[in-house]
Amino acid sequence: MKAIIPAAGHGTRFLPVTRVVPKEMLPIGAKPAIQLIVEEALSAGADGVVIVISPEKEIVRRYFEEDPSLAPRISWAYQTEQKGLGHAVLQAADAVKDEHEPVLVLLGDALVAGEAPSAKMAAISRAFGGVSVVGLEEVPLERVSRYGIVKGDNGVNGLKGLEGVDCERILRLEDLVEKPAPEAAPSRLAIAGRYLLDPAIFSLLASQTPGVGGEIQLTDAIRRLLADRPVYGYRYPGVRHDIGNPAGYLKAMQAFQPSFVA
Ligand code: G1P
Repeated sequence: MKAIIPAAGHGTRFLPVTRVVPKEMLPIGAKPAIQLIVEEALSAGADGVVIVISPEKEIVRRYFEEDPSLAPRISWAYQTEQKGLGHAVLQAADAVKDEHEPVLVLLGDALVAGEAPSAKMAAISRAFGGVSVVGLEEVPLERVSRYGIVKGDNGVNGLKGLEGVDCERILRLEDLVEKPAPEAAPSRLAIAGRYLLDPAIFSLLASQTPGVGGEIQLTDAIRRLLADRPVYGYRYPGVRHDIGNPAGYLKAMQAFQPSFVA
């Protein structure tokens, strides 16, 4: 399994420090946040990780290239224009073009404390014969417009070989919509920073027209994927922390390094 970590954003919610320090390099204890995400990908079974950065974020690459144990498993792709998450993921397409099984996508600013979702999502995908799976969390109605929101059917039971996964947390998706108004949201279940996507996603991304905010949205391409292949959702039990803003970053520090902030 290959993994992609999009980490090319400009970090505007964390200025001024992000003028020179990418948010993904901010420390959680002594490690940069993005290293925890690389470790989640590797422990879920990824044997190669593609990190998508912008040219101003070379320091991320320098950091990993100085670590021989991680460097041989990491390759690099560049997003030179801020055209959205879908466009960032598309920049990694060449690096994973020979893949036949789903590719893990872990957002570089989403740290999940508690049970790591990626390994469970990989197990769910295998149990259903290699389907796509998106990680989900429930959000309050007033915040649905910040997320990709899904519509799904909770009818998945009695699966074998899924030890440690609560089947009640698995849904078969029927629709997805990026950043809906509260009155248009099909549920309060939000896409939460982790995806395992059929490689067919790359040709869909290549032909994806801009959506909300004029950006190439990954959610829109998954919606088209769903027309052709099954996509499941997993309401993971871990707690996601958005390190893209100071408050979320401090919460992540508290969750991962409680003794530092007691
Ligand atoms: C992105 C995705 C969105 C998802 C969110 C959190 O939005 O487009 O579907 O719910 O990440 O994982 P962004 O935070 O980049 O606006």
